Amino acid sequence: MTNNTTPSTDTTIFQLGGDLPVRRVGYGTMRLADGPGDPTGPEARIWTAPADRAAAVDLLRTAAEAGVTLFDTADAYALGAGEELLAEALHPYGDGVAVATKVGVVRPSPTEWVPLGHPAYLRQQAELGLRRLRTERIDLLYLHRLDENVPVAEQVGALKRLQEEGKVRHIGLSEVTVEQLTEAEATAPIAAVQNLYNLATRDHEPVVEHTAGRGIAFVPFFPVAMGGHAGPDGPVARVAREVGATPSQTALAWLLHRAPHILPIPGTSSAAHLVENLGALDVALTEEQFARLAREVS
Ligand SMILES: NC(=O)c1ccc[n+]([C@@H]2O[C@H](COP(=O)([O-])OP(=O)(O)OC[C@H]3O[C@@H](n4cnc5c(N)ncnc54)[C@H](OP(=O)(O)O)[C@@H]3O)[C@@H](O)[C@H]2O)c1
Repeated sequence: MTNNTTPSTDTTIFQLGGDLPVRRVGYGTMRLADGPGDPTGPEARIWTAPADRAAAVDLLRTAAEAGVTLFDTADAYALGAGEELLAEALHPYGDGVAVATKVGVVRPSPTEWVPLGHPAYLRQQAELGLRRLRTERIDLLYLHRLDENVPVAEQVGALKRLQEEGKVRHIGLSEVTVEQLTEAEATAPIAAVQNLYNLATRDHEPVVEHTAGRGIAFVPFFPVAMGGHAGPDGPVARVAREVGATPSQTALAWLLHRAPHILPIPGTSSAAHLVENLGALDVALTEEQFARLAREVS
């Protein structure tokens, strides 16, 4: 977990929280998991560790070797197995590797994701995250969901106390509105917001606008629409051919072009797709292509 604070003019790098440089295409580890049913769609269970653990560990190591610096997981992914997998693959974390995890969603069964924001529970889950990740400080800890039954100040306050104790470097929020973000900021500085956002789903445009230029990273989840934008006949394929890139790279390049504080975290079970996705950092769209994609893919 890095301590490099050198300012960078490299547009492929974002300074998370102002002091933690990460490459702007990260890796989302959520689907390195198993469970009954379809593993790819929105109803995927994400319940147990992946059956082929060695392949998952290899993939994470390939990601780090290929230059991924921001790894995204959560305590809720396979009941902590996602965090354990990251430690197995990457501990001791080299300089330049930043791990983001999340607390605040409880999994009573494979089909349920229930917000639970009691401050004592958030603390417990952060402590478990530290153990599973085998680290003394979590680089970025998100509140996975706000719990409407607990005051925002108490939930964010729990994360702030962990930050004051040196157990958390930066605090993030997930699936929040501008109003919720503003309320949370009254309690603690927020370094990142992770919301559902991609070419086809832009409901969180106000949050993109609000976080822009304020040093807050916007981390879009489902950046390639769960694979929907990666296919050869998908909605971005024509522009992809024009720019000489793959559809997945083009969908990610659209997000990177949208604003310099956007850090997509595509998921994949394939080393080839992972390396391909990092190539989005080298894809340049014209303003016309950017606008056409926004118009045609919605
Ligand atoms: N905060 C939240 O509430 C929340 C919710 C959901 C997800 N997330 C985070 O967001 C991350 C990304 O989400 P996601 O993985 O569900 O969706 P995604 O990144 O939009 O799409 C992943 C899917 O796209 C396919 N894909 C990726 N790159 C490809 C390529 N180059 N060519 C062809 N297919 C490609 C993958 O299949 P292959 O395996 O075949 O490559 C996989 O099925 C998660 O891992 C998680 O960390 C957060």
